[in-house]
Amino acid sequence: MEEVNVTVKINGKERSAKVEPRMLLTHFIRDGLSLTGTHIGCDTSQCGSCSVMVDGHVVKSCTLLAVQVDGSEIITVEGLGTVENLHPMQKAFWEEHGLQCGYCTPGVMMAAIGLLQENPEPSDEEIREGLEGVICRCTGYQFIVSAVKHAAKLMAAENQVVGEGR
Ligand code: FES
Ligand code: FES
Repeated sequence: MEEVNVTVKINGKERSAKVEPRMLLTHFIRDGLSLTGTHIGCDTSQCGSCSVMVDGHVVKSCTLLAVQVDGSEIITVEGLGTVENLHPMQKAFWEEHGLQCGYCTPGVMMAAIGLLQENPEPSDEEIREGLEGVICRCTGYQFIVSAVKHAAKLMAAENQVVGEGR
């Protein structure tokens, strides 16, 4: 199959790769651009592990083709923070034990950031509703809710929602 060039601004840097037109955005990010923080849990839009931000909106990256995002701005979990300088969402997950095996965590954090963009002070119920599209196989949901609540406070204090695109 003839390959096409796809160029995106991802985590603040312009990157390009040649892909088959049928390649999913998830595979483009992981295999084409070697950003493996975005996980694949199902490939069928069920689990949310592959969630990333495209042009300011959180999407499950297995629901889009790479060619559909040509020219877009993308933020993946790698664009949130660094070990030395964690994003408030990462800090909150660390402090509130919001992860166990961590497989779902990148997608959950991206979905949670999308939720807080729309509702900066969600109730427990609104957090559960907002994250219903992401599945944690370790079933640590109460800790995830606590982490997102804590993140909301940290983000409000820092006036920060999305990553710096590092
Ligand atoms: S891998 Fe995309 S929703 Fe599960
Ligand atoms: S922490 Fe293990 S799948 Fe969610």
